[in-house]
Amino acid sequence: MKTKNTNRNKGVKLTWLGHSAFHVLTPDGTSILIDPWLKNPKAPAGAGTDLPVDIILVSHGHSDHLGDTIEIAGRTKAKVLSIFEITLYLTRKGISNVQALNKGGSVTIGDVCVTMVDAKHSSAIDADGTVFPGGEAAGFIIECSNGTTIYHAGDTTVFSDMVLLAKLYKPTIALLPIGNLFTMGPREAAFACNLIKPKYIIGMHYGTFPALTGTPAQLRKLLPADLRKRVRELVPGVPVTF
Ligand code: NI
Ligand code: MN
Repeated sequence: MKTKNTNRNKGVKLTWLGHSAFHVLTPDGTSILIDPWLKNPKAPAGAGTDLPVDIILVSHGHSDHLGDTIEIAGRTKAKVLSIFEITLYLTRKGISNVQALNKGGSVTIGDVCVTMVDAKHSSAIDADGTVFPGGEAAGFIIECSNGTTIYHAGDTTVFSDMVLLAKLYKPTIALLPIGNLFTMGPREAAFACNLIKPKYIIGMHYGTFPALTGTPAQLRKLLPADLRKRVRELVPGVPVTF
């Protein structure tokens, strides 16, 4: 871990960087980027460029999730955790600090345990004039030493096994796509919230382009009162501590 322990005893600092990109700073100062497409239209200017990064999580091969992984991993030497097929691609692109895993598998790095979980979506890498197989799309469970557990659902629709994820990992925070079209929209995401019942619900993968029409307001309207209060609307670049 090259990151300084600047966050000790201050909880988990979570920053939305637009689309499905998040920065997580754990209580012991482990710095994690998830789906780092940091040039997305909603990302704050210069997002992530001056950040020490220990771990990068890539949910699947689509360019809005693989994003700037190669550039950031090359610069920061962060360890990239992704499904086997994506780590094969990254290795061929000169990124050697990779950790392949697959669904149900966990890796502990420093004070954080990352588990790859299912997602219902497709995956491929469109690069160098061809399309590389991306394995399957995935989500991640990120368990921090202070008891905060984050579920980043990746790109997905709702699926009944979210009940298993909730029982097994008891996520404190669920990061759920709500934009519609390429992922679930508010209707399906509301159903997912009812299955998972996390303490905090955070929408992602919306508003990036006009086509991603779902909003946190629409999600709130579809939730029962107890869950409606759990929706947190993050502003890109503004950290929230949990
Ligand atoms: Ni996708
Ligand atoms: Mn996507």
